[in-house]
Amino acid sequence: MKIAVVGATGLVGQKILDVLTERNFPIDELYPVASERSVGKEIVFNGKKYKVISMMDAINLKPQIAIFSAGGDTSSKWAPEFEKAGTFVVDNSSAWRMHPEKKLIVPEINASELSVDDKIIANPNCSTIQMVVALAPLHKKYKIKRLIISTYQSISGTGVKAVEQLDNERAGIDGEMAYPYPIDKNCLPHCDVFEDNAYTKEEMKLINETRKILCDDSIRITATAVRVPVVGGHSESVNIEFEKDFDLDELKNLLSESEGVILQDEPEKNIYPMPKFAHEQDEVFVGRIRRDFSNPNSLNMWIVADNLRKGAATNAIQIAEYLSKNQLV
Ligand code: A2P
Repeated sequence: MKIAVVGATGLVGQKILDVLTERNFPIDELYPVASERSVGKEIVFNGKKYKVISMMDAINLKPQIAIFSAGGDTSSKWAPEFEKAGTFVVDNSSAWRMHPEKKLIVPEINASELSVDDKIIANPNCSTIQMVVALAPLHKKYKIKRLIISTYQSISGTGVKAVEQLDNERAGIDGEMAYPYPIDKNCLPHCDVFEDNAYTKEEMKLINETRKILCDDSIRITATAVRVPVVGGHSESVNIEFEKDFDLDELKNLLSESEGVILQDEPEKNIYPMPKFAHEQDEVFVGRIRRDFSNPNSLNMWIVADNLRKGAATNAIQIAEYLSKNQLV
């Protein structure tokens, strides 16, 4: 298969190349694309050197799938051009996620919705993906009424510049700032930009994308998204109110049997999910599962995943694998 990776020089783009190699994705030709300033630069894939090409050159080569991770503006402008060339676009940006005619896909939950006509497919936001992987089986069985979410998000979600900011701060070097404040030894209750309603865009993504993926606009959701000086992955504290009551052991059992979920919940042995250990893993880790005694039919849960993997690259490649395995490409 001919595959283009748009944003191949970025953090997610690099992770996409790693995950394509690890999963032995059937690639005959790889087209790495980045901005004009990177055209001609060399990248390494599967031990071979490739030159970065321009967007137009990639479109003219008519890849079967283009995996985009180059920001919303780039996706809005260029995904339709790839579509015209007959390419399936799997897009990591927020550009198409809430478009009423575009599908927002987490393969464990809703890949079966995809058809040959879905040429632009949206990959959800990183913090949404890991949460819905854990929530979807619970919603099916107990029906979620309300979610109260607090996130503890890795700086890698912001991109190369944020990782450089943290490295510079730790090395005592003055450099370019990705955030309005220092991030080392700090927490910023500010992920993405503020909207008119005083929530951040990241918080609104969690709210709107979760409803779209779970196909249920009746779920009431509120969120606070916080950036923390962590590199390995995102963590989330989620309070869930169900319509039906649950048996805690049965619920944990359901999670342990759910695709893509690993239960790490033995507090007496200090076993619970942590970003340091979710780093470079493709699964979603859940733990600290306990009844919320302050409210009927309610539960607290801690959810952790590598935001560059299941939150971005791995999910996008699982979508590409679905297209390939189901002969949609
Ligand atoms: P470049 O390296 O040439 O700037 P990150 O989010 O980690 O900063 O990565 C962003 C990725 O998106 C990079 O690969 C970057 O390429 C790419 N990119 C940014 N703007 C464009 C554009 N207009 N066209 C294609 N790729 C772009």
